[in-house]
This record gives sequence, C-alpha cells and structure tokens, in this order.
Amino acid sequence: MKKNTIGLMGLGTMGGNLARNIASKGFSISLFNRHPEKVDAFLKTHQEKNLYGYHDLAQFVDSLERPRKIILMVPAGAPVDETLTQLVDFLKPGDIVIDGGNSYFKDTIRRQEALKRANIHFIGAGVSGGEEGALKGPSIMIGGEKSACKEVAPILKKIAAKDFVGGTCGGYMGAGGAGHYVKMIHNGIEYAIMQMIAESYSLLKTHYKLSNELIAEFFEACNDGKLNGYLVEIVPGVLRKRDGKKYLVDLILDSAKNKGTGKWTSQEALDVGIPLSSITQAVFARYLSTDKKLRTELAKVSPRKATKPGIPLETFLQNLEDALHGAFLMAYAEGLHLLQKADKEYGFKLDMGEAIRVWQGGCIIRSKLLKDLTEAKNEIAKSHFLMSKTAAKKLASVEKAWTAVLQESLSARIPTPALTAAMQYYQSMTSAQLPANLIQGMRDFFGAHTYERTDKPGIFHADWNS
Ligand code: 6PG
Repeated sequence: MKKNTIGLMGLGTMGGNLARNIASKGFSISLFNRHPEKVDAFLKTHQEKNLYGYHDLAQFVDSLERPRKIILMVPAGAPVDETLTQLVDFLKPGDIVIDGGNSYFKDTIRRQEALKRANIHFIGAGVSGGEEGALKGPSIMIGGEKSACKEVAPILKKIAAKDFVGGTCGGYMGAGGAGHYVKMIHNGIEYAIMQMIAESYSLLKTHYKLSNELIAEFFEACNDGKLNGYLVEIVPGVLRKRDGKKYLVDLILDSAKNKGTGKWTSQEALDVGIPLSSITQAVFARYLSTDKKLRTELAKVSPRKATKPGIPLETFLQNLEDALHGAFLMAYAEGLHLLQKADKEYGFKLDMGEAIRVWQGGCIIRSKLLKDLTEAKNEIAKSHFLMSKTAAKKLASVEKAWTAVLQESLSARIPTPALTAAMQYYQSMTSAQLPANLIQGMRDFFGAHTYERTDKPGIFHADWNS
C-alpha cells in the first residue's frame, strides 16, 4: 500500500489547520488524535484531498513512508512527553519527530538527547501565525540536527509564508533548541509590541478621550504608514467589534493572561545576563493587570485626577506614531541581542539574518520594521542593532516626539511601562557613562565586594573609614 509523506498528531485548531495546509500543498498526510472521534469529525468537516485519518497509533505510524516524519501539535509541556512515550515504541531508527508547539527550548534539548539514544531525531519547530497562519502559511523556525532538518525542510518550507522577496519563511535556525528559542524570543517581542499598543490605546482613550472609532482610525493610519505590521493591523478590528449596542473591547475584563512564553524570555534574559527592559515590563504589565481586585482597591486610595492634555491632539498623534516606532524597534533590538548572546551560550550556530528573515511573513510580529532589522543584520549578529546607521538615523528622528509622549503620560498618570522601558533601554544602551561606579563604591563600602578603576588595571578594595 502506498505510504503517506508525513504524519500529524493533535488535531486542535492549530494542528488541524496545519494538516490542511500540508495537504493543500500536495503532501499526503496521516492524522492521529488521542480522541479518535476527533479524527472522524475533522475528516467529515474537511473532505479534502491528501488527508488520511487513523484511530490506531500503530497503523498511523505504519502508514508513513520511511524515514517517518511526524509533527506533534499538542500543548507544550507534559502532553509532549506523554505523546512521545506512546509513540516511541512504534518508531524505527532514523525516524523524525517534529514538535510544532510552543515548547520550552530546554525541554526540546532534553527530548533530543533522550531520543538520540534510540537514533530517533527530534526537531523543535517554532510555528507562528495563529490559526490563520497555520492554514495559509505560518513562519516556521526549525531547530535541531541539521541532517534531520534537511529531510523535513522541503515540506515545512513549502507550507510556510513568504518573506519580503518571495522566499520561504520556513528556515533552519540552528542546532539543539534553536528553533524553539527563536520562537520564544518572537513571543517576548510579541508581548512588548502588544503592551506598547495597549498603552497607546490607554493614552488616547483615557487621557485624550477619543472614541474607539477614532482610535481605530489612528491605528489604521499607522498601519498604512511606517508601522505597517500584523499586530497594528488587527487593532482596528478589535476596537470596532460590537456586542449588541456596545463595543466588545469595552466589555472585556482588563486582565491579560499568558501561557508563559514571555516569562521564559525574561527568565532567559536574567540567566544569560542581557537587559530585556521593555519585554520584561510587558510581562510584568500582564501580571499586574491580573490583580484587578487589588488595583481597584488601591485606585480608591490614590485616585487619578483627570488632567487636560498638554499637547494638542493632532501633534500628539504624530508623536505617538513616532514613539511606537522607536519602542517597537527597541523591542526587536532587545530580543535579538538576547538571541545573539544565547547563540554563544547554547552553541546554536545561529544565522542571525535567517532568524530575522523568517519573521518577515506569517508570524505575529511580522512588520515593515523588519526591513530596518534586515538592513542591520550584520551589526545585530556582531554587536547590537543600535550600532547600525539605520538604527541611529531612525532613533534620532523619533526621540523628541517619543519623549513628549512619555512626559504627557507621566503628568497624566497613565501608565506606559513598556513605552518608557524601551526609551530607558535606548538611552542607557547609548550612554558611555552610567552611575554604576557609585554602585560599585557602595558595594565595596558595605561588603568589600571590590571594584575596578578607570585609571589603572586590577581589582581594588578601599578602606572607606580612613
Ligand atoms: C504565534 C503566537 C502564539 C500564541 C502565543 C500566545 O506566534 O502564533 O505567539 O504562539 O498566540 O503563545 O501567548 P500568550 O497566551 O502567552 O499570550
């Protein structure tokens, strides 16, 4: 009997759409779900070519050509390990398992090492683009053993979105957990950009008292201009959605949940020792938002008094677009700086240009701004985005307007933690002199922690009482 090209386990929305995408590109695909009725329901709804369902795991595996290629689209964490435990007995040396979920990169490395003993290859593939992306073309960040990745690349590259010049947004990121690491950074940047957008909405709604419609128009204009990108593009739709006579967004509880990928990015930054100022503020902002009860009580203790905007609306809107421009660039810059350091730390052998390129299409953080980052890829790979001429020019052109937005937000008492942190990051990173000398002096004063000097080499300790 003719065997199928690839298999997929886990027919949730993402898995199902990815399977349909693969089938539509002419690859025959075997499907399995731990609840067999889900397979039947899926095939009943999607009577498309190249989709084949199985109820029995052994038959599912047996339906695949060798080496078998099986994509797991199950929730990250324990379900991946559980699925692997069930699957592994049916696999043969040389077979390839691809984890397409948002797995923690260290779990991916652990699984790679465990499966290697049975000569089974395990690939960590970050898949971004949500439900629609999975169906129409996601961004796919592939990581693991090069030879195994090469084996599955023709399929993954074909189902991926297109980059700015029509290439595929499926790309090899590097060894080990590189694919999931790049996806984790992607998500950290996603958190920061979303938070910056939300802070802008808050300034316009609470301080400038604009209607949802006018705010939607502002984001539409941004999307038609230099901030063109997926996250900016979707805002007007979210703002305009009605629920009866009301706007849905006005009825949604201001408590932002998360599945942990932003937290991992910040934890990584702390471990590797790289500042991730705006991304981490965005993670904290989500946490802070969930404490609605405490916030509501504290708001009564320290009420915010409405103030009149100091900047005329038209000017403020222009300033805000510039502020978002600078802040978005810093979110990418922070994430990519961490990636550059992590590459050395974990031996990914990453191609920085490739990581930036696969974000050009299909993924949640796709944006015109990736042109600037692509232009600066050599500086990003060697040192920092801010070293590039592009960055220097762009940041200098928005700094004044961005500062004005932050001043307005501070005096109006509208929290803008990510927009502010991004500016602080920019200003700190471009400061040759920081006050850390005083910190060193204080550390040495109370704890004899020693310091280095600017005028001579060596490690010193002062007698502070003499
Ligand atoms: C993507 C998204 C996707 C998902 C996030 C949401 O690239 O398609 O990043 O992976 O939307 O995991 O994360 P939170 O639930 O933590 O916001």
